[in-house]
Amino acid sequence: MKTKMMFAISRIILGAFVLLSSNFISADESSVGNGEAQKMEIDDSTFSCIRSMTPVRGFYVDNILGDLDATLKVANSPTGGTYPPGSVVQLVPAEVMVKLEKGSFPATNDWEFFELGVSAKGSTINKRGFVDVVNQFGGNCFACHVQARPEWDMVCEKDHGCDPIPLTEEMILAIQKTDPRCEDNPTLSDAEKNAMRQLMKTLSGGGEPGF
Ligand code: HEC
Repeated sequence: MKTKMMFAISRIILGAFVLLSSNFISADESSVGNGEAQKMEIDDSTFSCIRSMTPVRGFYVDNILGDLDATLKVANSPTGGTYPPGSVVQLVPAEVMVKLEKGSFPATNDWEFFELGVSAKGSTINKRGFVDVVNQFGGNCFACHVQARPEWDMVCEKDHGCDPIPLTEEMILAIQKTDPRCEDNPTLSDAEKNAMRQLMKTLSGGGEPGF
């Protein structure tokens, strides 16, 4: 029992390091095209430095079929909309949503959820799927994201109706700035360093997981 608990704790701490240094996304050039009837090939190499994606209000987007404009149009719409196939969305390096071809998996609006391991060497897909992917803290991606009101296409942001994640703005920024896959990580401000310390403390103290 004790061993099991220690294992759980060390996993969580490890998870935090992974996050600290985490991951993601770049276009798979081979699949760039008009997106019609193309099978998207998604593997470890699909994902790279999170900050190489396009920032939108604090999260990042890309489109692995090359139609970034269509993705940005929905992301920037004040009334929401349905993200086009190929859309990649990330808030933290280790967690990604990718929009597959229409009809791939209607229950998730064709979103596939990914949980990645990230390091200076790149990304490793630990888990991928639709309704049963959980993050490193045991939270089910779909269970939270399905709570977003329909016009937001399962994208939660802060006010779309999902259960909140226990991360402050500063923690999110610090996590994004320490993605180990990026070659140009900036120095953290003192406030961001503090946020990171606090995050580590919460995690090692067994505080609320869920992001
Ligand atoms: C406890 C509920 C919860 C769980 C579990 C969860 N998320 Fe989220 N997720 C959120 C919330 C809330 C936000 C928005 C946070 C913000 O913007 O401050 C978010 C943000 C995101 C974003 C950025 C776009 C958006 O929806 O705002 C992505 C991508 C994402 N999560 C993917 C995942 C993946 C993949 C998993 C599982 C591996 C996961 N999430 C698990 C609640 C959750």
